[in-house]
Amino acid sequence: MSEQFTRREFLQSACITMGALAVSTTGADKAFAATSASTPNTSGIPSCDVLIIGSGAAGLRAAVAARKKNPNLSVVVVSKVMPTRSATTMAEGGINGVIDFSEGDSFELHAKDTVKGGDFLVDQDTAMKFATYAGAAIHELDYIGMPFSRNAKGEVDKRYAGGASKIRCNFASDKTGHILTHTCLDDALKHGVKFLMDHHMLDLSIENGHCEGVVLRNIRTGDIAPVRAKSVVLATGGYTRVFWNRTSTPYIATGDGAAAALRAGLAFKDPEMLQFHPTGVCHGGTLITEAARGEGGILLNNQGERFMKRYVPNKMELAPRDIVARSIETEIREGRAFGHDMEAYVLLDVTHLGKEKIMRDLPQIRHIGMLFENMDLVEKPIAIRPTAHYSMGGIHVTSIDTMSTTAPGLFAAGEASCVSIHGANRLGGNSLCDATVTGKIAGINAAEYAAKADFGSGKRLHDLTIKWTSHFKEITGSNKGNVNDMYALREEMGAANWYNMGIFRTESKLLALADKHAEFQARYEAIRIPNSNPVFNTAYTEYVELGNLLLASRAALMGATARKESRGSHFREDYLKRDDVNFLKHSMVTMDESGKMHLDWKDVVVGQFKIEERKY
Ligand code: FUM
Repeated sequence: MSEQFTRREFLQSACITMGALAVSTTGADKAFAATSASTPNTSGIPSCDVLIIGSGAAGLRAAVAARKKNPNLSVVVVSKVMPTRSATTMAEGGINGVIDFSEGDSFELHAKDTVKGGDFLVDQDTAMKFATYAGAAIHELDYIGMPFSRNAKGEVDKRYAGGASKIRCNFASDKTGHILTHTCLDDALKHGVKFLMDHHMLDLSIENGHCEGVVLRNIRTGDIAPVRAKSVVLATGGYTRVFWNRTSTPYIATGDGAAAALRAGLAFKDPEMLQFHPTGVCHGGTLITEAARGEGGILLNNQGERFMKRYVPNKMELAPRDIVARSIETEIREGRAFGHDMEAYVLLDVTHLGKEKIMRDLPQIRHIGMLFENMDLVEKPIAIRPTAHYSMGGIHVTSIDTMSTTAPGLFAAGEASCVSIHGANRLGGNSLCDATVTGKIAGINAAEYAAKADFGSGKRLHDLTIKWTSHFKEITGSNKGNVNDMYALREEMGAANWYNMGIFRTESKLLALADKHAEFQARYEAIRIPNSNPVFNTAYTEYVELGNLLLASRAALMGATARKESRGSHFREDYLKRDDVNFLKHSMVTMDESGKMHLDWKDVVVGQFKIEERKY
């Protein structure tokens, strides 16, 4: 390390290789050997006690919680990218959590807003616990050093977020996710968490119903290897890249966790529930935070009209995201927008806030405007259009008390999971606290489980590793397929999903999409990569990711087709009303060994909040 070492070097000191994972009682490996009372791994297969897949806020908080719960356990975070490039960093506006009760806010009101925002597809007992833990999470983040913005009294500053009845969205400028990620990463390094960077989870092994580990591919070297773990936490983020280039989320949001869970026979809950954020930049979909509206920004159509007054006069631009996104798209469809087709847009105006306020509270979106639209939103309104932003659906988790899946030893957290906090539409500011809260719970429970568990036999893991090694050989090194079709295919998949399963859905569009998906799958299987060099074979990584996106697309389509009602972000123009008699239920998609998907339903847990029409 140089004298003035960089942050990258600091992080590198926490990075390990798979070799360092193998349990032995001597040398460097000793640091990672499980010192818990459980049976040590003597198979020679790399292993650790708690393995966490994903390095966003959920993964990082899970890792710290596991280390704090039991410092004797080896805790390793696997990540496709540097943690500072996770989707968490893209959350801008803030993190909900009631810490100020002086104006009548309460955990119950936060839970109520969350249930209503989710159009009642929320498990109410879960929402109540979530809101309670969210308040504690803000104090905890403050305590570990997160540099929140401060009000004149020096308290954590807060702003309005959409769908909230009280002001409870705590923030750090408009870089809340970015700043939260760095804070959580520092905390993870402090607590001795180790990182396997540039590693891609190819599959998850469930043997006799128990999770026994994962198959990883080292993107740098191409090595494909099994890793055994006593417990695994999937914190792999969402699958919004099913809309390929019309999303605010990073290229890594490819649903790797949900796809692996499907292949392992687990349920993917509410996959059709995909959120469209109202304000992505017109060119590319990068996020322009809801905080711009929370701070007083307004939406204008091509007649200079503040059109939200026609849709939701009481809440205007701060109605929940699904409603604002549909209102914008309606303006576009009815000819009151600017531009055409994918270039169509309305305007977001923050000029009246003034440069000083924008530079204090919204500097990042000014920067984004300059980068993507070549304009300065201090001086003029910015062109925006809805963009896919969040996956409410995810790996089915049985309880917020444990964040465990139906497979003992396997936990899920954050956007990858679905414990039914957000239902059919997540409220702005609820994702960072979901990641922070559920990550911590998953980490604690994964550590408790690992301390008592033994390693699995590793047999299925071994078979899966052989399967993936052969797969790499089969897909690469042949000129027989057309690799360029992979790039065309993901663009076409994104557009087809956007037009047929986007903001407005109908039976005929969804059925047409099913045919498209079948065609995409056939084309996908014919792709071959003419490069068998395993080192940095990023084309192969992208190939695997595209396969995961196709699986997630199919699951979402299955739910969207079966759900013959409109609820939250799932808007069926042929079934305009919410139908609580038939669909106050979670869709549960599973896949059998032949690749056929099946759909089942699970009742929503109703508690103290009356099921009623969602009115704002
Ligand atoms: O608009 C935003 O800043 C996004 C925040 C969130 O998704 O919670």
